[in-house]
Amino acid sequence: MTTIIVNGRKHNVSSPSGTPLLYVLRNEIGVMTPKFGCGLAQCGACSVLLDGSEIRSCITPVEAADGKEVTTVEGLPARWADQQGRASDTADMPLHPVQEAWIEEQVPQCGICQFGMMIKITELLELTPNPTDAQIKAALTTSGPSPHLCRCASYAAILDGARRAARIMAESSGR
Ligand code: FES
Ligand code: FES
Repeated sequence: MTTIIVNGRKHNVSSPSGTPLLYVLRNEIGVMTPKFGCGLAQCGACSVLLDGSEIRSCITPVEAADGKEVTTVEGLPARWADQQGRASDTADMPLHPVQEAWIEEQVPQCGICQFGMMIKITELLELTPNPTDAQIKAALTTSGPSPHLCRCASYAAILDGARRAARIMAESSGR
């Protein structure tokens, strides 16, 4: 049996080996922000963090996540609270800076790509707190198996969101 920790909660998974992690998250565990876009690692809609690194959950067999921590957008507030040394088990946790920035910049249009975008930018900002525009663009285009695609072409707003998230994180951390 595969055991995965999703947004801080342990799940013993009954889906057979080989089942894409995306299907387990959505159909067995009920975590719905990772989306099915292409199913071929070509769009980024299904991205989640696996032990802090972005992966495409549509092509990742569930057993590859055995014993590991999966973070989806639902888990970002608790992740941020943990990183800030605040309680992460309360109902009134503030949003993660990436979520806050996405709202303030009104980034999403249809929204299907946006959860993967937020996961990718979260990974970037944890590694590179003050990224250049080139680093943001590289994260979204050349750092993974394929670029993160937005069929609504909200790329300029995504860049604005990433910049704002970096500023919010810097202010919160006193940098
Ligand atoms: S659905 Fe996974 S990369 Fe497109
Ligand atoms: S907001 Fe529609 S695909 Fe990106």
